[in-house]
Amino acid sequence: MCGIVGYVGQHQALPILIKGLKRLEYRGYDSAGIAIQNGRGLQYAKSRGKISALETSINNQKLVGTTGIAHTRWATHGEPTTVNAHPHLDCNHTIALVHNGIIENYRALRSELTAKGHHFVSETDTEILAHLVEEFHGNGTDLCEAVRLALSQVKGTYGIVVASAKEPGTLVAARQGSPLVVGLGKNEFFLASDCAPIVPHTKEVTYLDDGEIVKITEEKITYKTIDDRVIDKAVEKIGFDLDAIEKDGYDHYMLKEIMEQPQTIRDSMRGRLLLEEGTARLGGLAHDLDSLLYARRILITACGTSWHAALIGEYMLEEFVKIPVEVEYASEFRYRDPILDTDSVVIAISQSGETADTLAAVREAKQKRSKVFGICNVVGSTIARETDAGVYLHAGPEIGVASTKAFTSQVTVLALITLLLGRMRSISNARGRRIAQELEELPERVAEALESADQVKAIAEKYHNCRNFLYLGRGYNFPVALEGALKLKEISYIHAEGYPAAEMKHGPIALIDENMPVVVIATQDSTYDKIISNIEEVRARNGRIIAIATKGDKEISKHAQHVIYVPQTLEMLMPVVATIPLQLLAYYIATFRGCDVDQPRNLAKSVTVE
Ligand code: G6P
Repeated sequence: MCGIVGYVGQHQALPILIKGLKRLEYRGYDSAGIAIQNGRGLQYAKSRGKISALETSINNQKLVGTTGIAHTRWATHGEPTTVNAHPHLDCNHTIALVHNGIIENYRALRSELTAKGHHFVSETDTEILAHLVEEFHGNGTDLCEAVRLALSQVKGTYGIVVASAKEPGTLVAARQGSPLVVGLGKNEFFLASDCAPIVPHTKEVTYLDDGEIVKITEEKITYKTIDDRVIDKAVEKIGFDLDAIEKDGYDHYMLKEIMEQPQTIRDSMRGRLLLEEGTARLGGLAHDLDSLLYARRILITACGTSWHAALIGEYMLEEFVKIPVEVEYASEFRYRDPILDTDSVVIAISQSGETADTLAAVREAKQKRSKVFGICNVVGSTIARETDAGVYLHAGPEIGVASTKAFTSQVTVLALITLLLGRMRSISNARGRRIAQELEELPERVAEALESADQVKAIAEKYHNCRNFLYLGRGYNFPVALEGALKLKEISYIHAEGYPAAEMKHGPIALIDENMPVVVIATQDSTYDKIISNIEEVRARNGRIIAIATKGDKEISKHAQHVIYVPQTLEMLMPVVATIPLQLLAYYIATFRGCDVDQPRNLAKSVTVE
C-alpha cells in the first residue's frame, strides 16, 4: 500500500529512485512522483498512473541531484490525480515529503494550519505533514527536529521520507505502522518500504521500528525515537539475491511465481522434515512449543489468501492435533470482543507481515495476554517481529499482487506444524513417517501438476469471455474453491464464487445454466462420491463442468466436460496440488482478457491501511 524510496549518496538519484519505485510498484500504482534536491532547491515531477507515465512526464526535465525521494501511490484520501500524487510540498516548496499510511487527525490539523495561513493544494491527508514540518523548520530548528516535532502532533500511521531545500544531502525518515528499511551502502544510503529496491545496491539494512526516526547524510546516519532518545540499530543482512526479484524471462511475476512453486515449497521445508522420526523441526517455535501443544484452543487470523490457508490449517490441526481451532478474518477479530484467555493461542498468517488488520489483530491478542505466533514470508516484517514466536515461509519475495507461492508455502508450513504437534500428541510414528514422506515428495507432485499448463491454457481460451464462474469443493478442498475463485476475481475481474459443494443447493444452484462454468475440485478423497453427486446436480442444469481430478480417475470424464488431472497425495496436502491448475486458470484467463496480471486494478499487495 504505497511504496516509498529515498536516496542519499554520490550517484545521480533519479535512475536509482525510478528503478526502486518499479520494484515497489506492486504496493500501489495509482500515481507516482519524485523530488530531487541538488543544493539549488527541490525539483519535482508527479504523474497520474504508473511509474512508466512518470518516466514519460520527466523525459525532458533535468532532475539532477544526488539526494531524492519518490513514491508510488495506492489512493486512500483523494482521487489518484496528479495533484494528489506525492511528494507533497509546503507553501514555499522548501520541503518535500512522501508518505505511506493514513493521518487520522488530518482534518483538525488542516484547519489549524489553514488558519495560520498555510495554503493546501491537494485533497490528501499527507499534505498536512509537509506544512506541519514547515511550521517548525528554520530559525535554528533543523529538518530532523522539525519532523520530530511535527510527528508528535500526528495521530495515525506513517512511513515518511522528507527532504528540505535548506539541508542539501540530508533525508529524514520516520515510521509508525508502515514499514521502512534503511540500506547501508558505501558512502550512500537508501530508504524503502521493503528490501527490493535496496538489494541491487547493498545487503546491509536496518529496519525502523514504530516511533523511530532516522537522519541520513552522505557521511552519517543517526537514529532516535520520536520522544527524542538517541538509539542504536542492529545491522541485518537481506536474505535473498537480486535474481529473486527479477522476472527471469517470464511475461509476468505471477507466472514465474506459479512455476517456481516446486522450489519454494522445498525451501519452506528445508531442514525442517525429519523423515525417520516422522516429525518436523521448527526452530522458531522451539521455545514456545508448550503453549501451542497444551493450548485449549487455537485461533488463526489472517486476510485474503492467507485466510484461505488458515482454513486449511484448521482442518489439519483439528484432524491430527485434536485441538479446537477457529479461523477469523483479522478485520473482524480486531473489532469484536474475542474471548481469549491464557489457554488460547493465536496464529497470525501474513505473507507480507505488514497487513494492517492482521497486525492489529496480533496487537489485540497480545493485549489480552495470549501467546501469538506468526507465519510470515517477509523476514523482519512487523508481524514477524511483534509475534512471540513463529515460522518463516522462506518462499522468497512474492511480487505478483495475487498471492500464489506464498499460499502453497503457508499450507506447507501449517502441515509441518500439524506434523510436529500431532506427533507430540497422538499420531503414531508410522503415520508421522507417512506424512513426512508425502511432504518430502510434495514438490514433485506440484511439478507434475504444473504440467497441466497447456491444457489449462486451452480451457482458459474457451471460457475467458464468461461473466461468472462457480468453484466448488468439499472438506480440505473447500478452501481451495475459495482460493480459486479469489484468484480469478482478482486478476481477470470476472465474478467468481467459491462454495462448499453441498451448499450449492442452498442458493448458487439458481445461477446455473449453460453459460456457467463450474470448476469442481473432485480429487479422490473421503468426499469423492458426494462431490460426484454435486457434479451431477450441475450437469442436470446444463452447467459446464471443469473438474480437477486425481490422475488415473477414469470415471470422472463421464461427468465433466473438461478434466484436469493432478497427482495423488495425502488428503491434507491435496490443497497444495489442487490449487496449481486453479492459479494457472486464473492467470491464463486474465491474459486472454488482456488484464494487467501483476498489477490488477484497485488492488495492492501489501494492505497497510485498514
Ligand atoms: C492483499 C493481497 C492478497 C493477500 C492479502 C493478505 O489483499 O492482494 O494477495 O492475500 O492482502 O496479505 P498478507 O500479506 O497479510 O498475506
